[in-house]
Amino acid sequence: MINILVVGSGGREHALGWKLAQSPKVGMVYHAPGNGGTSNNVNIEVHEIEKLAQFASEKNCLTVVGPEVPLSAGIVDSFTKKGLAIFGPTQDAAKLESSKVWAKHFMKRNGIPTARFEIFDDATKAKAYVKSVDYSLVVKADGLAAGKGVIVCNDKSEAISAIDKILVEKSFGSSGSKIILEEKIDGVEASYIAISDGNTAYPMATSQDHKRIYDGDMGSNTGGMGAYSPTGVIDDVLAKDIQQNVIEQTISSMKKEGAPFCGFLYAGIMVKDGKPFVLEFNARMGDPECQPIMMRMESDLLDYIKASIDGTLSSLPLISWKLQSAVCVVLASKGYPDLYPKNEEILGLEVQDKNSYVFHAGTKRIDGKVLTNGGRVLGVTAIGDTLQDAISNAYGRIGKISWSSKYCRTDIGKKGLAWNQ
Ligand code: AMP
Ligand code: GLY
Repeated sequence: MINILVVGSGGREHALGWKLAQSPKVGMVYHAPGNGGTSNNVNIEVHEIEKLAQFASEKNCLTVVGPEVPLSAGIVDSFTKKGLAIFGPTQDAAKLESSKVWAKHFMKRNGIPTARFEIFDDATKAKAYVKSVDYSLVVKADGLAAGKGVIVCNDKSEAISAIDKILVEKSFGSSGSKIILEEKIDGVEASYIAISDGNTAYPMATSQDHKRIYDGDMGSNTGGMGAYSPTGVIDDVLAKDIQQNVIEQTISSMKKEGAPFCGFLYAGIMVKDGKPFVLEFNARMGDPECQPIMMRMESDLLDYIKASIDGTLSSLPLISWKLQSAVCVVLASKGYPDLYPKNEEILGLEVQDKNSYVFHAGTKRIDGKVLTNGGRVLGVTAIGDTLQDAISNAYGRIGKISWSSKYCRTDIGKKGLAWNQ
């Protein structure tokens, strides 16, 4: 039996712990710091790497890292030096996510399909470039900005304001000391995630996120308001194209450049005219994508995590998936992604339903009550024979959950219905 320490406190980490706990080879599953839905919570924050290492060593845990912040701070390097088993990329390999400028250069020099771009650290030069191009632009801050450092612009004046916001007003601090001006691509977005041991990469199931706060993909970008899996946006032909030309090309190029990538590699893809363009890489699982993906995963996740650490992925069969669809609808507190209330009691969580599971994110448990403790509060995740069934099961379950400021989109999965025939 092996004990697991899951680092993080979101819906993604709850789903990873839930899936790992189903393995007959797993003993205890600890969560640091976890949330109101996870059990065996350990009161250590994700950036307290030394304390996490001490705990993992005392309890003889294999550590699974959910979020990008500890990965880019070098948690994997530090655990590995101490001889502790940990799943995820090194600090160098996590640069695929932690520096968008580095990732764009990496893609360009290795022939990985991505939108045209230029890099600037000077606002005057960046504005002159905006005036010189005849296409719409997306302005991106270089470093980690909690999903907020990307501004999709409809016209030149929006691009100029975005440049001011990042380079002049320094709204993202040092994460915005460099910017990318990138061609805006009009297409359909999907998420393609793989698991790698540095040499081999196996696909996880495909999925599609819903990044905007309001129905119809309107309003501000968020961390993600819901996701479903699989997505028909990525058919078999496109999946093969992405697997070879994005994922395998990235894994072999990272190895060649001396920073082999182990862990979950997430490619945010824009599909235009049947061709994939990489919008971003994440060096981790997606959230909320992780919830429907874990619900569909038939294989034992532990086997793949261990093989990723040991470099033996190619000895395992491809991962097997339930043929059904799964959908996760995020329940947030009204006001997210800006200001929102906390500490409201959530009711209706005890209802049992064989087709759904409620993953917790921004919740905490106090005196037997579950209270809201973040913007994205719950990820209600359901399975069904068709995408429509999964959607109905998720919203059916949501109807039984309540708190004063509960908010969710009412159209999660709807845009998939046209594709998932
Ligand atoms: P990123 O964090 O780079 O994935 O960007 C956040 C969101 O901005 C993406 O999910 C897309 O919706 C949008 N986006 C980023 N880059 C582009 C692009 N080149 N063209 C169109 N939309 C983009
Ligand atoms: N759902 C998008 C992300 O995890 O970055």
